[in-house]
Formats: sequence, C-alpha cells, structure tokens
Amino acid sequence: MENTGNKRDILTAERVTYAYKTRHQIVYAVRDVSYTFKSGTVYAIVGKSGCGKTTLISTLAGLDLPTMGKVIFDGKSTMELDRDIYRRRDVAVIYQNYNLFPLLTVMENVLYPMQLQRRPKKEARALAAETLRSVGLDESYWKRLPAMLSGGEQQRVAIARAIASGQRVILADEPTGNLDGENSDLVMKTFQRLAHEEGYCVIIVTHDPQIADDSDTVIRMDSGKIVS
Ligand SMILES: Nc1ncnc2c1ncn2[C@@H]1O[C@H](COP(=O)(O)OP(=O)(O)OP(=O)(O)O)[C@@H](O)[C@H]1O
Ligand SMILES: [Mg+2]
Repeated sequence: MENTGNKRDILTAERVTYAYKTRHQIVYAVRDVSYTFKSGTVYAIVGKSGCGKTTLISTLAGLDLPTMGKVIFDGKSTMELDRDIYRRRDVAVIYQNYNLFPLLTVMENVLYPMQLQRRPKKEARALAAETLRSVGLDESYWKRLPAMLSGGEQQRVAIARAIASGQRVILADEPTGNLDGENSDLVMKTFQRLAHEEGYCVIIVTHDPQIADDSDTVIRMDSGKIVS
C-alpha cells in the first residue's frame, strides 16, 4: 500500500510482559513483546484465540500497566504520563464488546469523547454526523439507543465514536467481527484513509484474512509473543 510520508515512531512496546495473577496461578498473557508502531500505518494483529491480542491492546491503550517492560507514547512511558489524559486525547479504543453507553443515543455516544475534549458543540455535531455517515449509519439511526441496533450497527457506532474523537492512535479489537463484507470493507477504507491521508496509527486485532490483507503490516502472535 502506498503511503504519503507522515510516518514516524509513535507507540512502542518495550519488552512488555503482562501477567494476570489470580489466587492460584499466574497467566503470562503477553511475554516480552517489543515492537514500534508508526503513524501513517494500518497494522493487523492476528493469532489464535487466547494468544494475548486483547491484553497487548490494553497495555498499549494504557488501560493496564505492563507487569514488566514499558509502553512508550511519543517518548513517554504510560507509567509516567497521565493515563486519563492519554486515553482522552491520544488513543481511541474500540472494544471487542463495543462498550457503548446504553442510556445514550447513537449520536450522544459519538459526541461523548468530543464533549470531554470540550470541542465546540456545532463542530462536534457536524463531525459526528459525518463519521456516522462514513460507516453507513444515516440520520434514521442517530436517535436510537444501542439496544435498538443490531450487533454490527453497534459495532459501527463504536467505530464512528473512536474516529470522531480525533485521537491519533486507534486500537481496535475485532472491529469487523460482526460486519458483513460490504460494511467491513467500508470500515477498512475509513481506517486506510485516516492512516494514509491523515497520519493516524491504526492497530486492528482481527481474525479476518481480508482485513489482514488490506493492512500495511501484519503482526502474528502466538502464546503471548510476536512471532512474525
Ligand atoms: N482477567 C483474566 N484473568 C486471568 N487470565 C486471563 C484474563 N484475561 C485473559 N486471560 C488469559 O490471558 C491469555 C490472553 O488473553 P487475551 O484475551 O489477551 O487473548 P486474545 O488473543 O485476545 O484472545 P481472543 O482472540 O479469544 O479474543 C489467555 O490465556 C486468557 O485465558
Ligand atoms: Mg481478544
């Protein structure tokens, strides 16, 4: 895939290990992973269920701190930067289970991160409308609650919310898992445009070979490690 410059190191995992500790055992979900992600690039992370993809995404997103090693954004470790600000301003996460606010309408869900950023209302609303349309959700959806949508529609609201937030790194956990070919293509085209034209760094966890094919770089994980 062609790129129009705008590539620089933006997010680095430096010897990241993440262990879930329960009373009876320790599960090493991510083991000594080092990788540098660049802006202007779409990455696909692939690998068997349970190999550590979601856990890696959570540490990159600053939702969890690595047990060992560091995640570095723009030169600063997530250990030292203010992670609330990091999550509000720099990284957008699209969760495997969408995490929409059930009591907010579709439009309000997409507006929410922009309200936290105190963007002017009119501008926020225009951007929300544009991104919702870009994922195939026209005005007839905007006043509905998430419960009144299909799984794939909810997924697209979560994607629109992440895109409209303007955060330069998008971390997406199976964002097209519930979408048909046409909608999954629409979402992928949006990610490619954001990366290649606007310099976003898009990291997608996926089981879909087509999404992996359409990404610039494929990262394969196995048993908590990056294997290629
Ligand atoms: N809260 C938890 N406590 C203990 N172990 C966990 C926890 N969450 C995940 N694990 C374990 O960590 C490992 C990695 O899980 P993770 O969710 O990162 O996998 P994944 O690659 O995202 O899988 P999938 O493709 O099924 O979503 C798995 O062995 C899983 O059982
Ligand atoms: Mg997962």
